[in-house]
Amino acid sequence: MVSEFGKTSKGESAKLYFMKNKNGMEIAVTDYGAALVKAAVSDKDKKMQDVVLGYDSAAAYEKGDVYFGASVGRVANRIGDASFELNGKTYELTANAGVNSLHGGRDYYNKRMWKAEKIEDRSVTFHLCSPKGDQGYPGNADISVTYELTDNNEIIIHYHAVSDADTLMNLTNHSYFNLSGHASGTVLKQEVMIAADSFTRADAESIPTGEIVPVEGTPMDFREYKTIGQDIEADYEALVFGMGYDHNWVLNGDGMRVVAGMRSKETGIAMEVVTDLPGMQFYTGNFLISEAGKEGAEYKKRHGVCFETQYFPDAVHKEHFEGPVVRAGEVYDTTTVYRFHTEA
Ligand code: BGC
Repeated sequence: MVSEFGKTSKGESAKLYFMKNKNGMEIAVTDYGAALVKAAVSDKDKKMQDVVLGYDSAAAYEKGDVYFGASVGRVANRIGDASFELNGKTYELTANAGVNSLHGGRDYYNKRMWKAEKIEDRSVTFHLCSPKGDQGYPGNADISVTYELTDNNEIIIHYHAVSDADTLMNLTNHSYFNLSGHASGTVLKQEVMIAADSFTRADAESIPTGEIVPVEGTPMDFREYKTIGQDIEADYEALVFGMGYDHNWVLNGDGMRVVAGMRSKETGIAMEVVTDLPGMQFYTGNFLISEAGKEGAEYKKRHGVCFETQYFPDAVHKEHFEGPVVRAGEVYDTTTVYRFHTEA
């Protein structure tokens, strides 16, 4: 099913694409920003709960600056000093987070109209041509993001990109999850697990120092489920710098694997994050102040959390971090899955 999602300030008409599986789980995605707008999952009382934060119209997505549900690129997260060198040439980006570049720096991918292609009952592909020089990056890049809903209650997000010149590419999804329902308030009592033995230490500007720090004995240890609130106020450098959790975890293993989980005792709704990427930013909505959301909801600090699968932030400046250089003609292909189930 397709419905209108209003017009942008440029007069473009956005659409909302709905997909439903045999269990009644329903998601909606929009071509404005290739964003996930809705993910309604049945709770333990068989009531549908929309577990992602979002807005009611494309115009609200255009106004918002917290990346609800967004497809983020060309390079998600931060690049130190908003510049990088590739093949001996320096590229200048836009500094939009102090002196650093965050989530593309300018002309955000999530503030553009993507072209909906291959619209099927259970999947939609959004396509974006990102020309050479876009946001300061080299290479004409052909990018697509496909959302698919399966009968296993999985939202599969598949990223595919090719550039005609060497460039950087690090696409992610910036959905904020609240498994007690998008309008239910803070997530502090919900539990999270992250299958990572270490994280990348960052400075006060959230740029990795290059150190890989074991989580053992620190508030960053999510190897066993614990409530998000348990250690979030600890007097620990990373939490002080991030004003809560806002770091990259070094995910254990490689290939498609479960890297994180979250659950709400209140609704019984649980999710797992599966990805083939090496890192994940776990961000606890520390900078949400007051967002007027969908259906009259007001979202505040820590009303949702993001699991942003990625190459490590500032990898272009760290030789021992993998990615995010994509060579001319090389296919960038990664997949992240958000899988839901309900516990009694
Ligand atoms: C970043 C945060 C930032 C947020 C923007 C996250 O990916 O790590 O520092 O504030 O995105 O909403």
